[in-house]
Amino acid sequence: MNQTFAMIKPDAVERGLTGKIINRIEEAGFTIVAMKKVQLSLQDAQNFYAVHKERPFFGELTQFMSRSPIVALVLQKDNAYSAWRDLMGATNPTEAADGTIRKEFGQSIGENATHGSDSEENAIAEISFFFSQFEINR
Ligand code: PPS
Repeated sequence: MNQTFAMIKPDAVERGLTGKIINRIEEAGFTIVAMKKVQLSLQDAQNFYAVHKERPFFGELTQFMSRSPIVALVLQKDNAYSAWRDLMGATNPTEAADGTIRKEFGQSIGENATHGSDSEENAIAEISFFFSQFEINR
């Protein structure tokens, strides 16, 4: 599949990094086929991250993701999900490689600037969580 779901998380939006991150995305050769700024409710965040509901950080993660707006995107490129995860870098910014978005902009394992789907199957599910078919410019 050549599309994946990406999010610019509240920490990065709050710090005025949206433009810089979008620039990095486009410079890396992705086409942005859908994009919107959204305020998630706590319930929205709990639904989106339901796969992590038994994990000890679930409360912290969902409070953080609903504290201020996020930017949701659908990115298009060959091997989109793995290419976007490569550009983001490791979940923990201290482990992220030089040149990755999380290395440059991430502050902690939770406040790590961006999210990306971790499989093609989840990319399909996460795109449809945020976007209708009419909002995606193929
Ligand atoms: S896993 O096992 O790979 O799915 O888990 P991981 O990628 O490490 O983390 C999943 C998401 O949870 C966030 N996370 C945390 N948030 C707050 N506090 C702590 N301690 C914490 N640990 C992990 C992490 O940023 C991941 O968010 P997404 O949006 O999926 O990248």
